Amino acid sequence: MSMTADYLELSDVRVEFDGFRAVDGVSMTVLQGDLRFLIGPNGAGKTTLVDAITGLAKATGSIRFGRSDLLGRPVHRIARLGIGRTFQTASVFEELSVLQNLDIAAGAHRGPLTLLRARTAVPATVEEALETVGLAAHRERKAGELSHGQKQWLEIGMLLVQNARVLALDEPVAGMSADERQATGELLHAVGADRTVIVVEHDMDFMRAFADSVTVLHAGRVLAEGGVTDVQADPRVQEVYLGTSGSRGEVA
Ligand SMILES: Nc1ncnc2c1ncn2[C@@H]1O[C@H](COP(=O)(O)OP(=O)(O)OP(=O)(O)O)[C@@H](O)[C@H]1O
Ligand SMILES: [Mg+2]
Repeated sequence: MSMTADYLELSDVRVEFDGFRAVDGVSMTVLQGDLRFLIGPNGAGKTTLVDAITGLAKATGSIRFGRSDLLGRPVHRIARLGIGRTFQTASVFEELSVLQNLDIAAGAHRGPLTLLRARTAVPATVEEALETVGLAAHRERKAGELSHGQKQWLEIGMLLVQNARVLALDEPVAGMSADERQATGELLHAVGADRTVIVVEHDMDFMRAFADSVTVLHAGRVLAEGGVTDVQADPRVQEVYLGTSGSRGEVA
């Protein structure tokens, strides 16, 4: 039983805002090790769906992770079940060091004195996260001094030290340099091997380079789902993207 891979299963998920259906009956399953991209035009409901998974938006239907039912639980309970997410704008403590940010994420149980004390040993989980996200050499720097990309990696590191089993990342590579995007794609594959990862993105080059599978949302519904090539070739997907007046999200 312990060998059973975790997976996230959404069934007929709906989120309404004053009668407007932002998410309108979404069903999807994301397996561990399957790097899933969630794409779709502006307003498709991508962020709202992530909000529903993480408890920030009130939803109906069913959202399960392994044996746990997530729907209806408060945000902190869902986080404790191993469901983590990042936001479109990085939410690190800018005045604290990289290490302190990771420390705080790692243990709310450790008091302020622990954080102030000159440290001799860094907890193994924190050390591992520093290495994984490529910030080992930057551990003493203030988070506010990091590049945009490095802040996103720090956020991912904070999810890792919290033992997140599910990572939902909202537009992680927006504003990153080409090198940072490449490093992020590799990082997501590394952390996604034994976790369930959902990446919301508008960057189609990034999606093509790193997605294992893609779910396309449009007007709160799943328009298409499958491998990158199939989804790109789908006329309905092309139509939705060509019909978008904004410059973001060219699919072809
Ligand atoms: N708190 C809210 N109250 C009312 N309407 C909302 C709220 N949050 C989102 N919406 C609406 O729900 C729809 C889906 O929004 P959402 O932010 O999930 O889209 P998205 O796919 O993430 O778009 P983008 O690519 O621009 O980030 C939009 O029409 C949006 O205006
Ligand atoms: Mg969004």
